Amino acid sequence: MSAPESVDTLRGALLYQGKAKQVYATPDPTRILIHYTDGATAFNGLKKANIADKGAINCKISAFFMEKVAAAGVPTAFERNIGDRDQLCKKVDIIPVEVVVRNVVAGGLAKKLGLAEGIKLPSPLVEHFYKSDSLNDPQINEDTAVLLGWAQPHELLAMRDYALKVNAVLIAFWAELGVDLVDFKLEFGRVALDGSVGAPTAVVLADEITPDGSRLWERGTGRKLDKDVFRRDLGDLSETYRELYKRIFGESL
Ligand SMILES: Nc1ncnc2c1ncn2[C@@H]1O[C@H](COP(=O)(O)OP(=O)(O)OP(=O)(O)O)[C@@H](O)[C@H]1O
Ligand SMILES: [Mg+2]
Repeated sequence: MSAPESVDTLRGALLYQGKAKQVYATPDPTRILIHYTDGATAFNGLKKANIADKGAINCKISAFFMEKVAAAGVPTAFERNIGDRDQLCKKVDIIPVEVVVRNVVAGGLAKKLGLAEGIKLPSPLVEHFYKSDSLNDPQINEDTAVLLGWAQPHELLAMRDYALKVNAVLIAFWAELGVDLVDFKLEFGRVALDGSVGAPTAVVLADEITPDGSRLWERGTGRKLDKDVFRRDLGDLSETYRELYKRIFGESL
């Protein structure tokens, strides 16, 4: 009989130490375990803190949204949660192009163009950023990604299509809870279709869907319910994330 599935039986070598998560090998080379920590960073790691229970809250929120978008036709690397802070996922080849979808002007877009935050865009704006900590994730366009060999044109089309589907699902979900989805960031990766080396690959949504990578504003008041609370010292991020958890799941953590 095989050992029951648990973090202890699944967790192998540490493959990557991120700012908010750790990635571990598992006995199956096609799967990884992603561990959500309480670490929070902003400004590419310049500002750091531990936020009580953030890991457990984000682990559950991300799983919830990954299942929701999968049901809406977006393939994902997520498989299931193992305990409170770990996720079993397909191991993907991360495409080094982050996709941001914006519904309202805020953050980097407001700063770069000298615009006030809060201007509603007439339709969703899809932006691309080169995933590079050392370069501070500079904005690029799809041509840059293709010409530098980071992604194929058909992959970028799939990423755009999936990102807009995720946007539609999340806007509708948050609207029911009285929250406006301002923007969010996604990462995508490639999975081999039949597992063999050199096999054709498919693009899937990877990483996370959490309030760390989203902007969420309370409808009516504009109160921020996301990591900007930490970035801009607007209050207690742990309390904010607990409030989001309660809105989503109807119970306290
Ligand atoms: N399914 C997956 N397969 C392989 N790698 C993944 C998968 N999902 C996420 N990752 C990668 O795991 C890491 C998660 O760690 P974390 O998000 O904390 O990193 P980070 O410090 O934010 O740095 P960055 O995201 O810029 O690499 C990221 O590098 C992410 O690209
Ligand atoms: Mg990350």
